[in-house]
Amino acid sequence: MTKPTGSTGFLQLIRERRTRDAIYHAKDYWDARATARTGLSRSLWPSNTYNALWDERQRDLITRALGGWSEHRMLDVGCGTGRMTRFLASRGAKSVTGVDFSEATVASARAETAEAEEPWVLQTRFETADVLAGFSHLGASFDDVLVLGCLSVACQTASDLEVSFRNIANVVCAGGRVLVLEPIHRSPLLRRVLDLGIEEWVSLANRAGLELAKADRMGFVPVRLVCSVRDVPEALVRPIFAAGENVLDRAPFLAPLSDYKLLLFRRSAR
Ligand SMILES: C[S@@+](CC[C@H](N)C(=O)[O-])C[C@H]1O[C@@H](n2cnc3c(N)ncnc32)[C@H](O)[C@@H]1O
Repeated sequence: MTKPTGSTGFLQLIRERRTRDAIYHAKDYWDARATARTGLSRSLWPSNTYNALWDERQRDLITRALGGWSEHRMLDVGCGTGRMTRFLASRGAKSVTGVDFSEATVASARAETAEAEEPWVLQTRFETADVLAGFSHLGASFDDVLVLGCLSVACQTASDLEVSFRNIANVVCAGGRVLVLEPIHRSPLLRRVLDLGIEEWVSLANRAGLELAKADRMGFVPVRLVCSVRDVPEALVRPIFAAGENVLDRAPFLAPLSDYKLLLFRRSAR
């Protein structure tokens, strides 16, 4: 029997949203998704058609923000099934470690990466780790750390976020970069678990020794709400998605209508 893609209804999404505080930060929830869904929907949205466009857009945004990462040692925190770990490795990183607290998700990331049968697979490694507990067991430091969609579900309070930023800062070398791409919202409809605004995120990062270098945004909310829950033909979704992202690129004053905010930090010298 083929597993469901994760395609679901708008009402189900709303129902999940109402219970998000109890489920999104729980390991069991992500373990269950890794086994019940297929493809990118295990870590992203229910629609895999939408996910492919989301993934493309995030790759572009990250490339634009970082410029390059040739020969860098990189850490992908809350890596999900490893899509960004693989992308970073395939574009010249010296090594990329993907970590996630869900064992089932890490197992999926390892299996999917092994299937790639590309030389850069040897540059990747996946480990279980909780961002709230830290990464000392990895026994490594990194030039760049990326965190995509993890902190906003892992952290329940400002103090959790500060601890997480400190754990991240502890494994970035001085002058190294931390790229955060997260749904940062206070609105009851859009926020995930953490209820903090951008200023608070930046100030907690500053307290951990991270200085803001760049900001950007993506994920035009009206398009996301309509197109991410059901698999609609790509020929239909692609132009709508592109139009939404174009609006965000051209009209900075519409930033509040972006789901994900990119914050690029530099680790100050110790
Ligand atoms: C929305 S998914 C994003 C996955 C991946 N970064 C991506 O963008 O494709 C959030 C991921 O964070 C992981 N996660 C949640 N809380 C975590 C924690 N405390 N420590 C490490 N990973 C965590 C989940 O298991 C899940 O894989």
